Amino acid sequence: MIGGGIIGMSIAWQLSKSGAGVTVFEAGRVGNEASWAGAGMLAPGGELSERDRLFDLAMESQRIYPGYVAELSRESGVAIDYRECGAFSLAYSESEAEDLRSLATKQNLMGIYSEQFSPGRVPGVRAGALAAQYYPGDAVVNPRDLMRALVVACRRANVTLRELEPIREVAERCEFDGTVLAAGAWSDQVKVVIAGDLVSLPTVIPVRGHLISFDLTGAGDDPALCDVMVRHNHTYLLRRWGNTIVAGATTEHCGFDRAIDGRVAEELAASAAELMPALSNRGYSAWTGFRPGTPGGQPCIERLGDSSIWLAYGHYRNGILLAPVTAQLIAAGINQASSQMGSPLPAGLRR
Ligand code: GLY
Repeated sequence: MIGGGIIGMSIAWQLSKSGAGVTVFEAGRVGNEASWAGAGMLAPGGELSERDRLFDLAMESQRIYPGYVAELSRESGVAIDYRECGAFSLAYSESEAEDLRSLATKQNLMGIYSEQFSPGRVPGVRAGALAAQYYPGDAVVNPRDLMRALVVACRRANVTLRELEPIREVAERCEFDGTVLAAGAWSDQVKVVIAGDLVSLPTVIPVRGHLISFDLTGAGDDPALCDVMVRHNHTYLLRRWGNTIVAGATTEHCGFDRAIDGRVAEELAASAAELMPALSNRGYSAWTGFRPGTPGGQPCIERLGDSSIWLAYGHYRNGILLAPVTAQLIAAGINQASSQMGSPLPAGLRR
């Protein structure tokens, strides 16, 4: 496994359940990039408007998420902040209200259920909303909890974790049943050689996001604030266990520049406070992360030709949501390919 983010670690854990011996190579520290930075919105309602492969994957992953979290928490003993809290999308102008309604109509036909909600009854938000749409199926998870749990679960399942070991080149090796490329926004930098030829990989583009969090401890926190996720245009607010509200997120094409831009963070804080006035004039902390974008907006979850190399990257805004379904698909593919090669897996991923 190349990449120790939520995708790589979920696949490693899934493979280990079928008895495979798995080694995860991570260029930095496990779970320190997008899986650490992500807000943890599991929100087809906020993210999807087309009936495409991404939609099918997202709906399936949303369906299996409760089981994934429950099993991971049980296997690791780590408590995971996962809540099927729902989400409100808000509109403050006639044109936003029209967009909200037509999106909801389209999504309802696709299978993403939402219903109109009285905008004046959404707790804590700025007065004057003209429309609100409630998405009961949207959920949140703390990805940092998931990563802590995956580290424990993988270690217990004898997955070998090798941190600070970047892999720059991969060639098919017959002693492995599979090599998975799951290095997020860095995936297409790995050189892949098959039968002596350099293979070009699907492109992945780093898309920086700034996020901020407000710690409301001791500040007259109202637990109803953001109990349900709130969205308006490009701003979203969600609550973590305890007294933390996370606000996201920018969408920036600036390569791998991870510097926090104080002005951008300030604008995000202003948008958050405009949407939820209780967040005005509060301190916040800011961070950045790199979403792995693809030119067509679809993730790469596939075998590279008929080789033993598998691609699991390009999840863009939905890596946290898509982790369980990606793990199932890649692990099933490797197990099946491996058994067709006449060496059934109990033997393990590594032969
Ligand atoms: N999934 C939300 C984001 O990427 O900002």
